[in-house]
Amino acid sequence: MSDPQAEAHLSKLEVLERKNQEALLGGGQARIDAQHKKGKLTARERIDLLLDEGSFEEIGKFVMHRSKDFGLDKEYYLGDGVVTGYGTVNGRLVYVFSQDFTVFGGSLSETHAEKIVKIMDLAMKNGAPVIGLNDSGGARIQEGVVSLGGYADIFYKNTLASGVVPQLSAIMGPCAGGAVYSPAITDFILMVEDTSYMFVTGPNVVKTVTHENVTSEELGGASTHSTKSGVTHFSCANEVVCINHVKQLLSYMPQNCEETAPTLPYEAGNETRPVLDSIIPENPNQPYDIREVIEGIIDADSFLEVHQNFAENIVVGFARLGGRSIGIVGNQPAVLAGVLDINASTKAARFVRFCDSFNIPLLVLEDVPGFLPGTDQEWRGIITNGAKLLYAFCEATVPRITVITRKAYGGAYDVMNSKHIGADMNYAWPTAEIAVMGAKGAAEIIFKREIAAASDPEAKLQEKVDEYQQKFATPYRAAHRGFVDEVILPSETRQKLIRAFKMLENKVDTMPRKKHGNIPL
Ligand code: HXC
Repeated sequence: MSDPQAEAHLSKLEVLERKNQEALLGGGQARIDAQHKKGKLTARERIDLLLDEGSFEEIGKFVMHRSKDFGLDKEYYLGDGVVTGYGTVNGRLVYVFSQDFTVFGGSLSETHAEKIVKIMDLAMKNGAPVIGLNDSGGARIQEGVVSLGGYADIFYKNTLASGVVPQLSAIMGPCAGGAVYSPAITDFILMVEDTSYMFVTGPNVVKTVTHENVTSEELGGASTHSTKSGVTHFSCANEVVCINHVKQLLSYMPQNCEETAPTLPYEAGNETRPVLDSIIPENPNQPYDIREVIEGIIDADSFLEVHQNFAENIVVGFARLGGRSIGIVGNQPAVLAGVLDINASTKAARFVRFCDSFNIPLLVLEDVPGFLPGTDQEWRGIITNGAKLLYAFCEATVPRITVITRKAYGGAYDVMNSKHIGADMNYAWPTAEIAVMGAKGAAEIIFKREIAAASDPEAKLQEKVDEYQQKFATPYRAAHRGFVDEVILPSETRQKLIRAFKMLENKVDTMPRKKHGNIPL
């Protein structure tokens, strides 16, 4: 830290300049070099990449810790291991904190936490997103409980800010112990491959307690959390990709819960998409990729998929339609026939709730054979977890539109944004099959005796399957009832949706007055 005696002969302006220079160096050049050697950027380089050039205004640059134990009375760094402030991303205000690993390994002290809380308070009062760039060895070990208190202060603010302003967490280094719970409460987590990890207890503790040998990467690296646990929404090849993803994500979101997301200019043209007419295979059991349907509907190159490699039987992400930001939830027939299981339900439920919190309209593309049967799913709670998705749709008040492309079977028909649970517009393609279950299963149950008594049970079964198929495996029964508003040609889907979302843009819907609901967690 700068020496007051050495500064005695300097003018007041020079003292300030010297302090500013010192703060920029964080933990010193040697540690900056070590950070670069690991393939990591510094806290300030990351902020420079994130924010519009020259827009960063720092807050708390000269903050220092106030601890005295374990040698801390002799070691101070201006800023105390976190760079905080505000700036703009594509001209829009954001608040940012960026942990500086060169200062005590980015560890969180009482004052470090206070700096983060300060910008979160500002973000909530002024209605703008908070972006955390995390690179930290966790609680500052020399400080003990005041550091733990600092974490708790942040968790509390994260919770208060949830649903008020978007909160994004980029993990760009270690994130261990209780430190993982701040990112976990935020809306989106992005991790950098090979240089970041998140876990509650590290490999050493795991070995002691469970006798498992596991590396940090296997236990909590980007690939683990983007495929196995679903903790992270994005796995990014490097820090630059990660920060670009943060910026792209922000472009689909409003600044806060009182606003709507920015729209891009859109000029109506020929919106017919003939390619959609031939996407659904003749054979109802043949898979197709729901992403092709999505691409056929939305504005060109506008899809940002969230949780791409986790619970791939459901696809969620942001897109633009006629310039408008929308959230898409689509069953994926190409993976497990698009069945709903525990992971798919929780993945989609959280996405629906984010969109609803921030006034982003929802488009649901439905081709679902039902919930996944079996002891594994039942014993791990498909009932409670499936109910999360049901609950999330039921309480969403944003404009909600469903397009049934093919199967809408059983409870999953109800859950996937059906008319009955508050969807505003429900369309079906002529290929839609809306029934309690698939024709074969249905025929086997309701014609069991007739089939058994037949001279040729196989032929009888087929006859009954065909009968059920003709009666129920169509969209028309649902359309007669008004459960489907219109049966449309796939090629006209884009046009219909642009108009319908425009029609719904001033939708006002409110939930009954309550403290808060009790989503089945
Ligand atoms: C104080 C720390 C620190 C910490 C690292 N440093 N972690 N200082 N508190 N938590 C310092 C080191 O002393 C070192 O200082 C510098 O940061 C870099 O650390 P290295 O170990 O040299 O770096 P590296 O080899 O890259 O290893 C990084 C690391 C390791 C994996 C993060 O430092 C580590 O395991 N740290 C401890 C992690 C931990 O157990 N934290 C507590 C978690 S519990 P010098 O002076 O040499 O540069 C927790 C509870 C939160 O966080 C609860 C909330 C509810």
